[in-house]
Amino acid sequence: MSRFLNDRLQALQAYVPGEQPKVQNLIKLNTNESPFPPAPGVADAVRDAAGSLQLYNDLSAAQLTALLADTYGLDKKQITVGNGSDELLAFAFQAFGEKGVVFPDITYGFYPVWANLYGIDAKIVALDENFNIRPGDYRGNDWCIVIANPNAPTGKALPLTELAQIVESNPDQVVIVDEAYVDFGAESALAFVPQYENVLVVRTFSKSRQLAGARLGFAMGHEQLIEDLNRVRYSFHPYNVNTLTQAAGAAALRQPEYFEACRQKVMDIREWTREQLLSLGFRVLDSKTNFLFAAAPGLAGKEYQEGLRQRNILIRYFDLPRIRDFTRITVGTQAQMEALIDVTKELLK
Ligand SMILES: Cc1ncc(COP(=O)(O)O)c(C=O)c1O
Repeated sequence: MSRFLNDRLQALQAYVPGEQPKVQNLIKLNTNESPFPPAPGVADAVRDAAGSLQLYNDLSAAQLTALLADTYGLDKKQITVGNGSDELLAFAFQAFGEKGVVFPDITYGFYPVWANLYGIDAKIVALDENFNIRPGDYRGNDWCIVIANPNAPTGKALPLTELAQIVESNPDQVVIVDEAYVDFGAESALAFVPQYENVLVVRTFSKSRQLAGARLGFAMGHEQLIEDLNRVRYSFHPYNVNTLTQAAGAAALRQPEYFEACRQKVMDIREWTREQLLSLGFRVLDSKTNFLFAAAPGLAGKEYQEGLRQRNILIRYFDLPRIRDFTRITVGTQAQMEALIDVTKELLK
């Protein structure tokens, strides 16, 4: 730390992303990426778009936004795009979190980091003993609410009827619904967008659309909420989604069959893996995501993670209260998951 850093930031603990080692033969199940390549057509679209890189990108992302509007049945004024959904979530904290933000004790680790970065107060609400969100805990709250649905790292989804209770009991607060993993079997709050003016749905191309490295997210909500987000976006970095990423995103949206096939495969492999882990005596939470949150029998989360790491399999462990028995395992290809199960059997011997 230099002696010049602002006082307020000196205690800031930055978010710690999962490792990205460039080691051969590693089975990488630690950052919830897709195990499948980008959709056919993405590479060509990026190559074509590279021909105009001397120009600034289209800051309205017109083509991409029109395709998103088409895909999700909204008006383009109800959508904006970001450099990953992380950026849009950070914008939303700035735009709507002035009084404070509320989120569960076990959830996406970036929420407390943004709160600290922007000097926003955070109210942490405990999940119940089965890692469920209790909608009643959020009733009559006067701060902005952030719900990852499905939640991470638990993988559990909140039914839409229960999310509606949170939205309806907080009509004067924005409810940010982070749907990074929604395509793997959960109900989306997209249906709330025309109905409630206080719901902001944030999505990503990183998980179900095979574009984590392109950095593309989008937010959907009432036209005025989107205008507010764009006010922050245009005050920070209007060119936030570069030309190549816009082209990649548009090409991916033009391949709905590929999207469907990949997400279905991920869900099938997830259920196969879940069954295997259960039969080995693991505790495995119900997952509506592309990962499993699982506790090995007789092994602490850290021990299981380290055992796998020594055998070239990376999964994620969180050194946090309540979840030290657990690890988060990204769903990879069938072959990768078979390797995980084989190694796990050895570790449990
Ligand atoms: C719950 C949740 N929200 C948002 C993100 C960020 O995704 P992106 O790659 O779009 O920034 C992640 C990434 O892991 C996540 O787990």
